[in-house]
Amino acid sequence: MRKKLFIKTFGCQMNVYDSARMADMLAPLGYDAVQSPDLADLVVLNTCHIREKAEERVFSELGTIRPLKAARAGKDPMVIAVAGCVAQAEGDLIIERAPFVDIVVGPQSYHRLPELIARARRIAAGAEGAANCGGRRQPGLGVLDVEFPPVPKFDSLPPPRATGVSAFLTVQEGCDKFCSFCVVPYTRGAEYSRPARDIVAEARHLVASGVREVTLLGQNVNAYHGEAPESAEGSWGLARLARGLAEIDGLRRIRYTTSHPGDMGADLIAAHGDVAQLMPFLHLPVQSGSDRVLAAMNRRHSAAGYLRIVEDLRRAQPAMALSSDFIVGYPGETDADFEATLQLVRTVGFAQSFTFKYSPRPGTPAAAAAQLPETVKDERLQELQALLREQQAAFNAAAVGKVVEVLVEKAGRKPGQLSGRTPQFQPVHFSAPPGRSDVGAGSIVGVRIDGAALNSLDGSPAESDVGATTRQPERANA
Ligand code: SAH
Ligand code: SF4
Ligand code: F3S
Repeated sequence: MRKKLFIKTFGCQMNVYDSARMADMLAPLGYDAVQSPDLADLVVLNTCHIREKAEERVFSELGTIRPLKAARAGKDPMVIAVAGCVAQAEGDLIIERAPFVDIVVGPQSYHRLPELIARARRIAAGAEGAANCGGRRQPGLGVLDVEFPPVPKFDSLPPPRATGVSAFLTVQEGCDKFCSFCVVPYTRGAEYSRPARDIVAEARHLVASGVREVTLLGQNVNAYHGEAPESAEGSWGLARLARGLAEIDGLRRIRYTTSHPGDMGADLIAAHGDVAQLMPFLHLPVQSGSDRVLAAMNRRHSAAGYLRIVEDLRRAQPAMALSSDFIVGYPGETDADFEATLQLVRTVGFAQSFTFKYSPRPGTPAAAAAQLPETVKDERLQELQALLREQQAAFNAAAVGKVVEVLVEKAGRKPGQLSGRTPQFQPVHFSAPPGRSDVGAGSIVGVRIDGAALNSLDGSPAESDVGATTRQPERANA
């Protein structure tokens, strides 16, 4: 009997990857992914703890699922699992406040889901006493598995199923940096790098199933230091890994996220200059432009240090486009500190960015500090966003009139359109080249950019470049 699986994913790309891996793992057990929880046999909420009120959001999601479970109580009840970072941080609270949740599973333990589901079903059927259940027993009927296991979960997962041209590939997890605002070191645990051999094998498998672009994921992806394929070689850093992956035939583009400025080594910067598949776009969060705030955040880099990295990157790869995360209103941030952030933004010129108002996360060092007034946070956020929007619009406008190489991902919004991304990660919608049915998802085509908006570009096929499907990606257009 086939079963229906509904997964709802919150948070970062690592959760997106994890959700896909959960689906891969459950498919052989008969679970087909569905788009709505209504008729699901198994509902998984893969949660994120990074924002304020994250727990409340989970409880409110659970509140909408509970009646669905009640409606089909009986022989074959719905199983509800809470996974991800809220599960890790607040597992006990979830089982206490929402006893209808069957499974609470942390981000390092989801490879045990099949076993946890079987156990939850036995408990629900009254076939297994709660005392026999291997995960920790909590006040409700749930099974809680939020340990950081000694055996990395990746060893227990089946090969991934590719669903498109572009795929995520987690290479590193966890964080030892302990920025004073951030929950990630507490929810994902200590830094761990997967062996390079496993990553190369996973990438080969993805490419064999049609993937043309991989985005290597990690909370600190550029701190990657996995065991080299030949163990005598010691370990591989991210630059060496990118070079290894670039040898895979058919893998046209390599990206990675998220990087920490402190781990942006000379070898990785150099790789941007000479590995053609490594795309000229980097998400490198700076958080603030004030050294005083950066020190209080425990970021372990200065504003000048960040600017030096940007300069070195642009020297190695003139087409390099930068993206960042910013936090405004960190405790103690003065007008002068905020001005330093604006100044850093003006100096760099970002292609894209994410901005956040500081919010205290329980258990982190900054949470105890006095908060700035909400109005100050709001004003600074508006001002920073306006500047970043201007830069993003200018960056996109600069592409108009140029021919760029687009990796086609899918059909576009309108009939006869295709869509994909530039090397610098801008989404592009363009008219399909007439009479070229061979151009589709996975092709790399030259597209002349005719128009630019804040979030995407429009274009038409460049006559001379339509046959670009088998070429290696060029160095990006500067
Ligand atoms: N590992 C990544 C990102 C982690 S979370 C890194 O090191 O950059 C993504 C972003 O959320 C962070 O870069 C930060 O800008 C923001 N963030 C994290 N905790 C926050 C908090 N307490 N308040 C506001 N923004 C926060
Ligand atoms: Fe959080 Fe800092 Fe680690 Fe990034 S580097 S995950 S912001 S603690
Ligand atoms: Fe959120 Fe966990 Fe990612 S807290 S941002 S899902 S690492």
